[in-house]
Amino acid sequence: MADDFTVTPWEVKGKIDYDKLITDFGTQRIDGSLEKRLEKQFGESHYMLRRKIFYSHRDLGWIMDRHEKGEKFFLYTGRGPSGHTHFGHILPWLFTKYLQEKFGVNLYFQLTDDEKYLFNPDLSPDDTKRLAYENALDFIALGFEPKNTKIFLDTEYIHTLYGIAIKVAKRITFSTTKAVFGFTNSNNIGSIFYTSIQAAPCFLETEYQKKNVPCMIPCAIDQDPHFRVCRDVAPLLGYYKPSLIHCKLLPSLSGEVKMSSSVPETTIFTTDEPMAAIKKIKNTFTGGAVSVQEQRKSGGNPDICSVYAYYNFLFEPDDAKLAHIRAECTGGKTMCGECKERLAGCVAKFLTEHQKKREKAKDRLEDFMLRD
Ligand code: TRP
Repeated sequence: MADDFTVTPWEVKGKIDYDKLITDFGTQRIDGSLEKRLEKQFGESHYMLRRKIFYSHRDLGWIMDRHEKGEKFFLYTGRGPSGHTHFGHILPWLFTKYLQEKFGVNLYFQLTDDEKYLFNPDLSPDDTKRLAYENALDFIALGFEPKNTKIFLDTEYIHTLYGIAIKVAKRITFSTTKAVFGFTNSNNIGSIFYTSIQAAPCFLETEYQKKNVPCMIPCAIDQDPHFRVCRDVAPLLGYYKPSLIHCKLLPSLSGEVKMSSSVPETTIFTTDEPMAAIKKIKNTFTGGAVSVQEQRKSGGNPDICSVYAYYNFLFEPDDAKLAHIRAECTGGKTMCGECKERLAGCVAKFLTEHQKKREKAKDRLEDFMLRD
């Protein structure tokens, strides 16, 4: 069926119906009034909200109430180190950075080296640990500061996490994990336990401060099932339920649903040589017509175009300029080659700068790491 799709924390396929996900997962849409409330807080509007890239939430209004009453919350997000970082990962991290700046709060970044080892038949514990440190460099390179941002690997911070994780795990039955994640009798038992490790950081500040501290999680919507389970358990343990703000997934360069590390030709990694990235963009799937003549006559289709998606999600935050790109495309004025070339220039510039910052991050890594 053409409208068939799957979104779980470990598998995304088909053409995603994001509205249906809201219904299926039971989350809330970020409506106009909530968006205005955030804008008021930020003193401006953010393109990721305006464009509905961040489009869904759980209890965002509640955490805003608390914040407005002067109760400090903290931010929590993470990364499963199964490969190098790509633009799909950077997207929510950039928004997380924005939230941190605007709210002036602490942030915890979980690197789930355990998860990626347990779920990936081809990765060893050493692989996922090494990749976790590689990913941490990309995170730091985005400009976070160690005074209010802390990073940890599950296998290394387990002494602190484990006490929380077992409390969570004790309240989750096998049948719940089967229903939520689709586990069967052939899943290894580590993967069944794993969700309690991803839940644990929601309660870190509460454990440190010995009083309830609200938690806000910016993440891609595929991670929601973990936190749905976590939210059910939280009140049983005397914790606040974490709030969430969900984004859509960045499409790959092939026009497929999601950028995926397993298809390197259609995914731009932060570690790619700028020239290699430019080459990938040249081969990108676009919304172009069958011929130049045809495109001059009837225009291209930005709504199915990966190049346009890149502008929309990351590389053209200015709405007027994005509208111009769209108009030039649909009006048959810009051909795909030109449009790709411009994007390639933006991407190459980003990569060159990012890679310098990434090198510098190596000296600062330890300032960010939590050790127990
Ligand atoms: N499971 C996530 C992944 O595979 C990593 C992760 C851990 C995460 N904790 C998180 C993502 C909190 C978002 C928010 O990438």
